[in-house]
Amino acid sequence: MLESIYIMSSLNQLKPLSYSTNKDGEILLADIKIKDLVKKYGSPLYLMCEKTIRARIGAYRDSLKNNYPESLVLYASKALNCQAICALVKQEKIGLDVVSLGELYTALSVGFPIENLYFHGNNKSHEELKLCVDKGVNIVVDNFHDINLLSKICNEQKASVLLRVTPGIECHTHEYIKTGKQDSKFGFNLDELFTAIEELQKINVNIKGLHGHIGSQIFETLPHQDTCRVFMDLYKKIKDKFSLEFPDLNLGGGLGIKYMESDDPPEIETWIKILTDSVKALAKEFDLKLPRILVEPGRSIVGPAGITVYEVGNIKNIEGIRKYVCVDGGMADNPRHIMYQAQYQAEIDGKVNLQDRETVTIAGKYCESGDILIRDINLAKTSPGDLLVVFSTGAYNYSMSSNYNRSAKPALVLVADGQDYLAIKRESLEDLLRNDLLPEHLNRGVLSKT
Ligand SMILES: Cc1ncc(COP(=O)(O)O)c(C=O)c1O
Repeated sequence: MLESIYIMSSLNQLKPLSYSTNKDGEILLADIKIKDLVKKYGSPLYLMCEKTIRARIGAYRDSLKNNYPESLVLYASKALNCQAICALVKQEKIGLDVVSLGELYTALSVGFPIENLYFHGNNKSHEELKLCVDKGVNIVVDNFHDINLLSKICNEQKASVLLRVTPGIECHTHEYIKTGKQDSKFGFNLDELFTAIEELQKINVNIKGLHGHIGSQIFETLPHQDTCRVFMDLYKKIKDKFSLEFPDLNLGGGLGIKYMESDDPPEIETWIKILTDSVKALAKEFDLKLPRILVEPGRSIVGPAGITVYEVGNIKNIEGIRKYVCVDGGMADNPRHIMYQAQYQAEIDGKVNLQDRETVTIAGKYCESGDILIRDINLAKTSPGDLLVVFSTGAYNYSMSSNYNRSAKPALVLVADGQDYLAIKRESLEDLLRNDLLPEHLNRGVLSKT
């Protein structure tokens, strides 16, 4: 009991649950010194705390169970998808949302239960939809193109589908990660919905309900409450027009996390309570059966579980202007700053307790002036060879990483109970050449064998 209270009250921390420091100001994860992990696996290094992921999944699952038993959490695996994470999510007995053949293939490779897999996308291919129908994966139908393709695919086999709707809710988050406005590439607009239902009724599918995702890194609860109202109002209209009561309602993900100490997102339990209370009240108001609720969090499950470790190299001081601390990674392993000016907090390993601090900018090593990881951070005075630990990097870091500048992707290691488990190997230089072919006419007498 005490343990669960501890976990509940400390979930909204910037740092993973197994994070600690010692008297020498060194940083540990699951009781392992991060400098030892870097010795073993190299730098840069993604580290994921298993305890944090399980606790955050547990918070979603348990608060739903307590407030609204007919429900299912789906982990939005675009935040971080690899075999180890899919297997962990499977062990925790929640569902998974995937958006590409690659994510689906990874989930299938660990035997993820098909009935709890949901496939998304605003431009699904015939191949993707065919695989979903053949395997029995749930499909989130996004547009008339999907319906057209499904009409050719769903002959003998019936597909289970949700319809993604753009509910027209604004939320206070960065423009590029808003997906719920009417001006969005995702989903049916409200005026298209009835036609979409009519078209789907002509083909061999089982319409389970509607789906809406209004954005990401959202701190307010009102936009999601409004979303519940839009959807329950639609369920009422659909009941009146089609005499249909959909059994499921997917409210998407989007709950924000702490990137900065000053960030104050709602607790998972609070978010779930507000959403489920809204749906219950609206079902009464509109005289509807309670649908099963699905939620689809990504960032708020894996984000705070991750840290990235870099080694400090060149330090460039422009007197009176700026001091750049350059590290051995950057926009290729974490493009979130260059994409949407994301902010992070960080510490120097071995100097956590140091009072001697200064304002610096952490720059990456890639060939772009915009390759900045953190602008203007107050950091312990650092020197080449130090390890920099950046917090809250578990979501949309590895999954958005690239091979820009032909750089090899770092390793990803899961840590739990004093043990470390390599989940994704560091890429080698050979890996970078894996798909290269040297056309014969370019090879004549130019290259030596070595
Ligand atoms: C359809 C859908 N569901 C769920 C998510 C997960 O959102 P988040 O990681 O903010 O919880 C996203 C992210 O963009 C999404 O597009």
